[in-house]
Amino acid sequence: MLEVNNIDLHYGAAQALWGVSLNAKLGQVTCVLGRNGVGKTSLLRAIVGQQPVSSGTISWDGKNITNLAQDARARSGIAIVPQGREIFPLLTVRENLETGFAAAGAGNRFIPNDVFELFPVLKSMLGRRGGDLSGGQQQQLAIGRAMTMRPKLLVLDEPTEGIQPSIIKDIGRAIDYLRSKGEMAIVLVEQYFEFARDLADTYAVLDRGQLVLSGNRSDMDEAHVRKHLSV
Ligand SMILES: Nc1ncnc2c1ncn2[C@@H]1O[C@H](COP(=O)(O)OP(=O)(O)O)[C@@H](O)[C@H]1O
Ligand SMILES: [Mg+2]
Repeated sequence: MLEVNNIDLHYGAAQALWGVSLNAKLGQVTCVLGRNGVGKTSLLRAIVGQQPVSSGTISWDGKNITNLAQDARARSGIAIVPQGREIFPLLTVRENLETGFAAAGAGNRFIPNDVFELFPVLKSMLGRRGGDLSGGQQQQLAIGRAMTMRPKLLVLDEPTEGIQPSIIKDIGRAIDYLRSKGEMAIVLVEQYFEFARDLADTYAVLDRGQLVLSGNRSDMDEAHVRKHLSV
C-alpha cells in the first residue's frame, strides 16, 4: 500500500536521508527504530508531504504521491501523530478532534466512537482546552485527532516519548486495535525498543540517515537491532 522507494532528503545543503526504502501494508504495523537524529522524523515528513524529497519516489494506494501536497495526501487517507503531539492549546478537546474533519470528507464529519472507547478520558474532557491536558492526555488526543481523519495510513512519531507507563499501555492497546480492524497501514517510529518490538509486524532500523536493518519481526535479531539504538 505504501511504498517508499530509495529516497534522499535534504535540509538545504545538509542531507538527512540516503536512499531509504520502506513498505507498509494494511493491517500491519511497520516500526521504524533508531537513535536521536538519525532521520526518523524526516522519513515521516517525507511520507506525509511536510518535506520534499530530493530523489526517489513515494507511492500510496498505487499512485505516485511524491509531489503531492500535504493536504492532498491527508485527503487521500494519510494522517500523522506528530512528535511532540502539536495539540492546539487554546482549542478545546472537541475542537482539536474536529480539526480532523477536513481530511475525513463528507459523511464522516463526526468523531468516531472508538476514539472514546479507546481513550475514555477524552470524553470527560471534551470542553477543556488542549493546553490544560497532561502530556499523556495530549498524546491520546493527538491519536484521537488522527483517527477522526479516518486514515488508511497512520504514522506515529514516538508516541511514547515522555509518557507515563499506564498511558503507554493504553496507546499500545489502541495501536493493536487499529491494526486488528485491518483497514489501515500503520508506521510507528520509536526509540522505546520493547514497545515497538511487541507491536511490530515488520521493522526497519535507521542509522545516520540510512536503512541498516529491516525484515519481519519474527526474524528480528534483537541484539543486532539494540546495538543501533544504544548511544
Ligand atoms: N528543519 C530542519 N532543518 C535542518 N536540519 C534538520 C531539520 N530537521 C532535522 N534536521 C536534521 O536532520 C537530521 C535528522 O533529524 P530527524 O529526522 O529529526 O531525526 P530523528 O527523528 O531520528 O531524531 C538531524 O541531523 C537533524 O539535525
Ligand atoms: Mg524525531
